[in-house]
Amino acid sequence: MAEIRIRNTNERIQGDANVSEFLNNQNVIYEKWDMAKLPANLKEKFTLSDEEKAEILSVYDPEIRDLAARRGYQTWDIITLSEATPNLDELLKKFEDVHTHTEDEIRAIVGGRGIFIIKGSDDVGYFDVELEPGDIISVPENVAHFFTLMDNRQIVAVRLFIEKDGWIAYPYADPSFQKS
Ligand SMILES: [Fe+2]
Repeated sequence: MAEIRIRNTNERIQGDANVSEFLNNQNVIYEKWDMAKLPANLKEKFTLSDEEKAEILSVYDPEIRDLAARRGYQTWDIITLSEATPNLDELLKKFEDVHTHTEDEIRAIVGGRGIFIIKGSDDVGYFDVELEPGDIISVPENVAHFFTLMDNRQIVAVRLFIEKDGWIAYPYADPSFQKS
């Protein structure tokens, strides 16, 4: 279950219904996949062969196709990040710049943890969404955000794209944003 932390107040929002309601109000799509479907040998495994990635995509093919039918996604793949990823520190540094893109950024977490930091409505400000396996989140198009890992620094996620070109990151200079 995802958890929210509102950066301005340090308030935490927990529990399915509360998290869903908060994210709905911020126009962030939030759904769940059943992690019990994932075979045990693929759970919390952060270096995946092409065959293993294909297996995960095939296990969740109905969920992926359902999202694609509702939202227009055309292609999907799997991304893994862990200490085994070359240049992990460099990559994370690049991720940690606030940016926007013209396509929504949808991720289905199937292993590990991750955080989206999203610019909310004016009364809320920036908030963190701490994600765990089974969480599906879509950061809306043109909304300022960035992604980072949590302390264990590992994640496996399915990414879905309408067009890969729509996903070019535009830096978003925001003097109101404070890291931490
Ligand atoms: Fe992004």
